[in-house]
Amino acid sequence: MNLHLGVGELRPDGYHDLTTVFQALSLSDDVSVAPAAVLSVRVAGEGAAEVPTDRENLAWQAAVRMAHLAGRAPLVEITIRKGIPVAGGMAGGSADAAAVLVGLNELWDLGLPRDELAEVAARLGSDVPFALYGGTALGRGRGEQLLPVLSRNTFHWVLALAKGGLSTPAVFRELDRLREQGEPPELGEPQALLQALASGDPAQLAPLLGNDLQSAAISLKPELRRTLRAGVTAGALAGLVSGSGPTCAFLCESEESAVSVAAELAGAGVCRSVRTADGPVPGARVIDNAHRR
Ligand code: C5P
Repeated sequence: MNLHLGVGELRPDGYHDLTTVFQALSLSDDVSVAPAAVLSVRVAGEGAAEVPTDRENLAWQAAVRMAHLAGRAPLVEITIRKGIPVAGGMAGGSADAAAVLVGLNELWDLGLPRDELAEVAARLGSDVPFALYGGTALGRGRGEQLLPVLSRNTFHWVLALAKGGLSTPAVFRELDRLREQGEPPELGEPQALLQALASGDPAQLAPLLGNDLQSAAISLKPELRRTLRAGVTAGALAGLVSGSGPTCAFLCESEESAVSVAAELAGAGVCRSVRTADGPVPGARVIDNAHRR
């Protein structure tokens, strides 16, 4: 989730310079890696049918890069159980790639430090390094240059999952198009937001949340405007589009408030489904190692 997503100029390499503040939320995919005769990716869970199971999948590419680094063949079966919405602007594909880096580091006993995994991660995608570290971080460059950020307390979120996804490159292109027409203005620096995170007060944080991609996501999917309004009407402190969308995220005062906002949003018929989540949480990590047992 991007609490602040400031999008700068389109660079000659096709990327945009970003200033972003990431926070990892408690929505996760389960990824397992096991030795196999050939490299394969299997995907289960909601939206699984839309996820590629070949070299298009970042998790596949992560295995190939790790194998190259380890000087061995990428003979693993990767199984992904989706809990993060597919094409939802929540960096689910990046989380899966980060999980494969961590998983293969363990399976193959490579002992690579996280910083070295982060270099591989940055080559896979702009959001993969953050998915590796988790927590709360300031991202620059394409979003891959990270600095940890002090965040006090746990923040409570409600996520409204949309019907259908949005393509990240298409949303960036739409923002470029809107800007050529003179609209919309760019977000400033996130100094005040960083102070609010350190204070741990959701009411202080709420008015400072911002996403330059929001107007582009709404331009491509105008119904998001209704979803955003419905979350605030339901009692959230603020709502914004998550990353390139179309998931909308609502910051709430407390866990109880999040549960009530989620229930009201689910009944309002403005989205496909609703989840609650907390942040910050850690990044990709090993939760069960059958190989060491
Ligand atoms: O790095 P990643 O492959 O996740 O980026 C997907 C697409 O999102 C890029 O091809 C580009 O169109 C857009 N993007 C961008 N600027 C960034 C990050 C991503 O324009 N900083």
